[in-house]
Amino acid sequence: MNLQDASILVVGAGLMGAGIAQVAAQAGHAVTLFDNRPGAADAAKAKLAQTLDGLAAKGKLTADAVQATLARITPVDALAAADLVIEAIVENLDVKRALFAELEALLADDAVIATNTSSISVTALARGMTKPERLVGMHFFNPVPLMKLVEVVSGLGTDPAVAQAIFELSARWGKTPVHARSTPGFIVNRIARPYYAEALMLLQERAATPEVIDACLRSAGFRMGPCELMDLIGHDTNFAVTNSVFAANFFDRRFTPSLVQQELVDAGYLGRKSGRGFYRYPEGAPALPAVDATAPIAAQLVVHGTGWVADSFAAALPDAVRERDSDWTGLSADGRQLRLTDGRRATDLGRGSAVFDLPLAASGDIAFAGDAATGAWLNVLGLTPRAVADVPGLVVARTIAMLINEAADAVQQGVCDEAGADAAMKLGVNYPAGPFEWLARWDRRAVAALLDRLDQHHRGERYRVSPYLQ
Ligand code: NAI
Repeated sequence: MNLQDASILVVGAGLMGAGIAQVAAQAGHAVTLFDNRPGAADAAKAKLAQTLDGLAAKGKLTADAVQATLARITPVDALAAADLVIEAIVENLDVKRALFAELEALLADDAVIATNTSSISVTALARGMTKPERLVGMHFFNPVPLMKLVEVVSGLGTDPAVAQAIFELSARWGKTPVHARSTPGFIVNRIARPYYAEALMLLQERAATPEVIDACLRSAGFRMGPCELMDLIGHDTNFAVTNSVFAANFFDRRFTPSLVQQELVDAGYLGRKSGRGFYRYPEGAPALPAVDATAPIAAQLVVHGTGWVADSFAAALPDAVRERDSDWTGLSADGRQLRLTDGRRATDLGRGSAVFDLPLAASGDIAFAGDAATGAWLNVLGLTPRAVADVPGLVVARTIAMLINEAADAVQQGVCDEAGADAAMKLGVNYPAGPFEWLARWDRRAVAALLDRLDQHHRGERYRVSPYLQ
């Protein structure tokens, strides 16, 4: 099957439909655009004309390209036949099913229907269709013209040839398509849950403030910390997605929503859009105070362990002694230890000890727990230590371990492959690396051990280790 020259009907001329029509027209397809709200399709085209003119004024498009793109988009007053229909209407199972029934009465037998749903099962949407094999998920991300990822979602009845044709079409449109099996949250919305959930758990445990959590994850390479990101998304929206993934997984406790977020929603503290969430707006996350970087260390420093963290410490501290045989990673001096978190707490390590977070970057904020003077050694490495409560896995290590764990489960369950998970998280939510790239850099056993210790600490379903990592 080849959709390269397909005529396309986009149904729904809202935020997503307008973007999809633009991308399809720019790729050379004849596009008709329908919306059941009178005037909506014309308005969407007029708005697109403005956007494209703006791009032309900046020299990013030629006037000819603008004209050609607009000429390919025709707003229509009624559903019309096409080789491919892309549906981007309201997120409601019954309304989408009714649309598909109307479409099937109108379309040729070999026409394909793609749905941009972000949360409804493609398998469920196909039920009742005359030809359920022609329905496939084509999940774009907002804003459509800029975001590269397309999750190509197959339901139980989707014809693999149809999924492959949509995959190839997306690639031709300059997107990076990834195959996904229709399961709650597909790839991105599922694997991303722990990014928010672990921050909310840290807040619930009163382990750290939103400012510290955000600073540590930003330093680990994320563009936004989880708290400021939830403020941007809107707590109502983020909470609704978490609830729907929780319910769709038969209330698997691993996906349990947070009372901390429920409170924000109840209060109407929805984030940026309401002027207040974790932070107040327009100010946003306050800067953390500077840390006194003068931390003289009297005794000889010893770098313990092997692997990239120990190697980077040894490189930063040329005068330190190296103790490769230690079964832990970090620094010691004067009988005191500063250990990379392996899920054990500083309290478990004896007096004067501290544990520090996974140092994904060579500089910036990093969480530690335990003895403050020992934690201050991080300064000599060029890092900025931030004290948090003595909780297993601290901030970054625990978050990354849980992202890896969720991705591992998704692969184990055939939702996607490792490369697909990595591409999806980097392109769909701009993560600095994919979960399996982190796993390759860290260590499978270390991740599993850290999760096991979180599991022992919390005793519940939340931190169970994926069989894929065992
Ligand atoms: P929107 O509200 O901006 O646009 C939906 C449009 O569909 C509206 O113009 C509405 O009049 C029209 N519509 C509703 N029912 C219709 C029907 N029966 N027939 C024809 N037109 C109808 O919504 P948005 O954000 O564009 O979302 C559309 C779909 O895309 C939803 O399924 C949503 O879950 C999904 N999606 C949204 C993303 C986002 O960031 N907003 C991201 C990825 C997917």
